[in-house]
Amino acid sequence: MTHRLAVLISGSGTNLQAIMDAQKAGTLDAEIAVVFSNRASAAGLERAAQAGIPTASLDHRDYPDREQFDQAMIEVLTPYAPDTVVLAGFMRILSAVFVRHYAGRLINIHPSLLPKYRGLNTHARALEACDSEHGCSIHFVTEELDGGPLIAQAPIAVHANDTVDSLSKRVQQREHLLYPQVLQWRAQDRLALTDNGVVLDGKPLPAQGYALA
Ligand code: GRF
Repeated sequence: MTHRLAVLISGSGTNLQAIMDAQKAGTLDAEIAVVFSNRASAAGLERAAQAGIPTASLDHRDYPDREQFDQAMIEVLTPYAPDTVVLAGFMRILSAVFVRHYAGRLINIHPSLLPKYRGLNTHARALEACDSEHGCSIHFVTEELDGGPLIAQAPIAVHANDTVDSLSKRVQQREHLLYPQVLQWRAQDRLALTDNGVVLDGKPLPAQGYALA
């Protein structure tokens, strides 16, 4: 059966676009069952709608607390029966209710080489620290923010004249390669979170995950 994705976004959705493009190009054998946003105005919803992909949104401000919003999201997503829930610029911290419900099926992309720079402003922080390397990471989501087991990383070199803008552009280019690749592993049933950590093709990955060349 075709692997089903639910993609969660809050903004422009360039990662969503890369996932849609990979599917169209035949390099990602998955169905995007639904694109969900906590912002009805997210540009990514429009990208999905134009491609004929079902969309849904709920405004987190309509809910008294995080748990009730997360429970409502689960109810919206459930009929789409996602095999993997893909966080692609979803700017909400998820509660244990959601994380536990989708344990082992919930994946996030983060614009830093984790465990460095969890949270926000990762490019500025890498520049401030004069890092020679920066990049992005994809990980299974656990209850620890940006702290789940790593699946893959794509490093980039930091140049002397880099700015937040130039860095974020180059990191995003890597994200757009890395996310479809990781999702294809899921679609092909090659990637799982087990008691022995993250396993690809039956072998445990190193702590930093697969490194994109
Ligand atoms: C990406 O940089 C991702 O790493 C972060 O949010 C951004 C989403 O960008 N979590 P887009 O909406 O996919 O363009």
